[in-house]
Amino acid sequence: MRSLALLGSTGSIGTSTLDVVKAHPERLSVVALAAGRNRELLKTQCEAFRPRCVSVGTREDADWLRSSLSYRPDLHWGAEGLLACALHPDADTVVAAVVGSAGLASTESALRAGRRVCVANKESLVVGGALMHEAALAGGGELLPVDSEHAALHQLLADRDPATVREVRITASGGPFRDWPLARIQAATVAQALNHPTWKMGPKITIDSATLMNKGLEVIEASVLFGLRAGQVAVTVHPQSQVHAMVGFHDGSYQLQVCANDMKVPIQYCLLYPEKQPGPVAPYAWDEARTWTFEAPDLDRFPCLGLAYEALRAGGTAPAILNAANEVAVAAFLQGRLRFWDIQACNRDTLDSLPVLPAGSLAEVLGADGAARRHAEGWVQART
Ligand SMILES: NC(=O)c1ccc[n+]([C@@H]2O[C@H](COP(=O)([O-])OP(=O)(O)OC[C@H]3O[C@@H](n4cnc5c(N)ncnc54)[C@H](OP(=O)(O)O)[C@@H]3O)[C@@H](O)[C@H]2O)c1
Repeated sequence: MRSLALLGSTGSIGTSTLDVVKAHPERLSVVALAAGRNRELLKTQCEAFRPRCVSVGTREDADWLRSSLSYRPDLHWGAEGLLACALHPDADTVVAAVVGSAGLASTESALRAGRRVCVANKESLVVGGALMHEAALAGGGELLPVDSEHAALHQLLADRDPATVREVRITASGGPFRDWPLARIQAATVAQALNHPTWKMGPKITIDSATLMNKGLEVIEASVLFGLRAGQVAVTVHPQSQVHAMVGFHDGSYQLQVCANDMKVPIQYCLLYPEKQPGPVAPYAWDEARTWTFEAPDLDRFPCLGLAYEALRAGGTAPAILNAANEVAVAAFLQGRLRFWDIQACNRDTLDSLPVLPAGSLAEVLGADGAARRHAEGWVQART
């Protein structure tokens, strides 16, 4: 039986994780739940799963939960609450599904404490990749990627001699603007950018999918997770989102990983690894007629993908700078303070303006994150 601490339980990954838990009552149980502002949903989840440890964004909401719940869990709030859940002594597995670099410290601490950490929070790998490896090595933690492309690569690369691998390819749906001309993309509205064609996700990652920044973050994530150079991680646009990743070998052949575009598949992969059990998603229906198409990404219409490669090649704190600028720009776009095309401009300006420093410690990485947030916020304010 695996005992879970689920960080970000009220989000898209969090609720899918609880669906997987429900499908495996004999294998999975919930010890801790942590969320941000959605106290009503967190209350419903607590009543259903009765975790011993619960954290919410504010003290006020923790008091509200204390008076509304029908039982008495340990209640926490804020960043310390996230850590209390991540490090709960009865939890052997942590699902890191908070959005943004707010998830960095809890992911790092859980790895250092020797937990299995199923990381959906790609920002923590982009910002502090080397630190996560070091924490896992020091504490005996196990890092498994929830992102569908990286869970696919984890399976494709298992027991492979790295010397046989020429490149990996992660697929991108292309987002809602895949076939839009540049001028139309530049003027895209929030509603248009939130209208993702194949995946139903939280708002931040949905905007990142429209700019292809999400794919850029995933390129950095793949490099961090599998020790690959920038030139070894490629992106192929595949609008049907059925092939999630491919590995190309020196003999010119490829292996592909295929499953339905439902995050419950990679979530279950990480939770039950190395077991493969029937779960909440039906096996891939090969008898249905289908068309799969593949094309190259267009970096002129989607410059955020190119920025991610630049940051990966620059190394050090460059990925943290790009990620922080992007979090600020996306939040400003969602609030109606920036236009869609300004997201890439803010990211470009912040990456070009700040020095790239070594990223050897959490303090260095958080310092770069803070400096980039201040720069990007100033950039946004100058335009609003
Ligand atoms: N959705 C997907 O299909 C998908 C696929 C691959 C990877 N990912 C990655 O998974 C992560 C989560 O994505 P999502 O789509 O699930 O996002 P989401 O729906 O926006 O959910 C985010 C979760 O994080 C919580 N949260 C946010 N800030 C917090 C804080 N400071 N302290 C505690 N909890 C906080 C939110 O709580 P409240 O809602 O209660 O405020 C919510 O539970 C992201 O890093 C994303 O890139 C997502």
